[in-house]
Amino acid sequence: MEKINSSERFEKPAVLKAEHLVKYFYEPEKFKVLKGVSFEVKQGEFLSIIGKSGCGKSTLLYILSTMDTDYEGKLTIRDELLTGKSQNELSRFRNEHLGFVFQFHYLLPEFTALKNVMMPGLKLGKYSAAEVEERAMYKLKLVGMDAYAHKHASRLSGGQQQRVAIARALVNDPAIIMGDEPTGNLDKANSQRVFDIFRSLAEENSQTIITVTHDSDFANGSDRIIEMEDGNIVGTHFPKSV
Ligand SMILES: Nc1ncnc2c1ncn2[C@@H]1O[C@H](COP(=O)(O)OP(=O)(O)OP(=O)(O)O)[C@@H](O)[C@H]1O
Ligand SMILES: [Mg+2]
Repeated sequence: MEKINSSERFEKPAVLKAEHLVKYFYEPEKFKVLKGVSFEVKQGEFLSIIGKSGCGKSTLLYILSTMDTDYEGKLTIRDELLTGKSQNELSRFRNEHLGFVFQFHYLLPEFTALKNVMMPGLKLGKYSAAEVEERAMYKLKLVGMDAYAHKHASRLSGGQQQRVAIARALVNDPAIIMGDEPTGNLDKANSQRVFDIFRSLAEENSQTIITVTHDSDFANGSDRIIEMEDGNIVGTHFPKSV
C-alpha cells in the first residue's frame, strides 16, 4: 500500500474533538484536575500526550475513551457528540469505534490468546463467530502472535500478552486506538515493536492513535506531542517536522 506523507495526512478531517474539558475530583476535597482542555485529532494522526505524573493525562484519556461521563465541556468523535449520551449508547459506540491498550493488559488468563482477541468481536455481533475467529487470527498475525493463538494468555510473556492485547484492541477495526502507557511495562525491543505496530496502523490504515506515554523515544516518533501540566495543555510539538 502506498504511504501517505504526513502533510497530506493532516488535511484529513478531525476524528476527535475535545472542547473545553473540565473535570473535578471531590475526594478528599474539591480539586479541578482538568482546567479547560481543547484539541482536535485528525484521522490517521499518531498523537502522544506527555506530562509529569499527576498532571491529568489518564483522567483526560478516560474522558476521551467515553468511560468517564462526569465532566464539563464537549467530546465529539466521528462527528457524533458523545457528551450526554446514555451508558448503553456509549458502550456500543466504544466497542465499534474505539480500541484500548493499557500498561496492564487485562487479558483473561484462563482463555486462549485467540479467544481473548475474539471477545470484543463477538460482543459487537456484527459478524458470525467463524468470521470473528478469522478476523481475530488476522489481527494476531499482524502483531506476530498467530503462532500462539491457542496458548492460554497466562502462559505468555509480558510482551507477548501486550501484543495480544493490541490484537484484541484492533479486532473491530476501530477508527481510534487509545493507549495509556502501552509500553509502560515493556523492555526496549518490545516497546519498539508496539511502536512500529502503531506507526503502521496510522500510516497504512489511517487509524488514529492517541497514547499517553512517559517514553520519550515513543513520543518523539509520533506525529504530534501534546504536553500537559497541571490540568492544562502547555505545549504542542511536531517532533518530525524539523
Ligand atoms: N479517582 C480519583 N479521585 C480523586 N483524585 C484523583 C482520582 N484519580 C486521579 N486523581 C488525582 O488527579 C490528578 C491527575 O491524575 P491522573 O491519573 O490523571 O494523572 P496522570 O497524569 O495520568 O499521572 P501518571 O503519569 O502518574 O499516570 C492526580 O493529582 C491524582 O491524584
Ligand atoms: Mg496516568
